[in-house]
Amino acid sequence: MCSQTLTSIFFSSLLVLQLIATCYAHLHVDYYHNTCPDVESIVRNAVKLKFQQTFVTAPATLRLFFHDCFIRGCDASVMLASKKNAAEKDNSDDLSLAGDGFDTVIKAKTAVDSVPDCRNKVSCADILAMATRDVIALTGGPSYEVELGRIDGRISTKASVRHHLPHPDFRLDQLNAMFASHGLTLTDLIALSGAHTIGFSHCSQFSKRVYNFKSKSRIDPTLNQAYAKQLQQMCPKNVDARIAISMDPTTPQTFDNMYYKNLQQGKGMFTSDQSLLTDTRSRKIVNLFASNSSAFERSFVNAITKLGRLGVKTENQGEIRRDCTIVN
Ligand code: HEM
Ligand SMILES: *[C@@H]1O[C@H](CO)[C@@H](O)[C@H](O)[C@H]1NC(C)=O
Repeated sequence: MCSQTLTSIFFSSLLVLQLIATCYAHLHVDYYHNTCPDVESIVRNAVKLKFQQTFVTAPATLRLFFHDCFIRGCDASVMLASKKNAAEKDNSDDLSLAGDGFDTVIKAKTAVDSVPDCRNKVSCADILAMATRDVIALTGGPSYEVELGRIDGRISTKASVRHHLPHPDFRLDQLNAMFASHGLTLTDLIALSGAHTIGFSHCSQFSKRVYNFKSKSRIDPTLNQAYAKQLQQMCPKNVDARIAISMDPTTPQTFDNMYYKNLQQGKGMFTSDQSLLTDTRSRKIVNLFASNSSAFERSFVNAITKLGRLGVKTENQGEIRRDCTIVN
């Protein structure tokens, strides 16, 4: 599509230069303007309906987008299912992805494809990007325009996830190295971590911090001790592995800057969260986002837009999937 337009305006070198700049990432906000002009409202209505049925829709969709973009780029490869349980989503780091995120994209895709003109024209990767934007707005977060034009990938392997997603026991250096490998800055890392202002974690992800810190029966000293006691109550030893608790104990269902205020009080759920405050290299930005919610929102929108550009495929590297869980 870009190359066609390029040839037709070949004579205006200024425009060509402009187009090269916008074609580079293969993404445009009005990508479906001619093929499926109402795609944004179709997706928004489907996401809203799903969100009214269950709140988990919001955190599940947001986390799914992050995990998709970090592995093989934003190509919905995380949604592909494999008969041999050998796809991305079968990796242990993806097993805790909540089913409602997948279901949100599947429902929105069905809604898009029920409009004859739009049928099989909108990628699952783009639907996931739009749904992510919509759940952020539905939970009170910033609204932003989503760049579109992602192509769905045809490859999804369990092995590709290994060592490529951050772990909750990571500290700043490990987090920073992983985000930097995707061209994301320290500010991007801190802003994107603010996504933990909504959603849930299973007890196993942080139980060491409250029972067995440094292999001893101690509590992590960077944790607020009263909060640690609360976590012990909500997550007793030998707790049902299915139990998940809110990561933001203060405003669990609102996408706000409370995550950073919690960090200031030692109420970061994971080592990866709390180290953003304890490490002096990142503390200033945490304090800024805690005190200025518009600074947080601006940085978050900037960072999630960059996240959405990772590894975007060209048309010959992928396809518009008909069923988001199976290659065509
Ligand atoms: C910085 C490194 C990060 C680490 C170590 C990390 C780790 C985790 C872990 C361990 C969970 C709990 C999963 C469970 O037990 O079910 C979680 C949940 C979540 N993460 Fe992250 N994460 C990181 C960054 C991000 C980013 C960048 C986003 C999105 C922009 C994100 C969005 C979420 C959301 C929304 C949930 C809640 C999911 C739900 O309720 O279903 N995380 N994360
Ligand atoms: C908060 O951040 C915004 C956006 O970066 C900035 O324009 C504004 O001046 C900041 N407000 C304060 C009180 O520092």
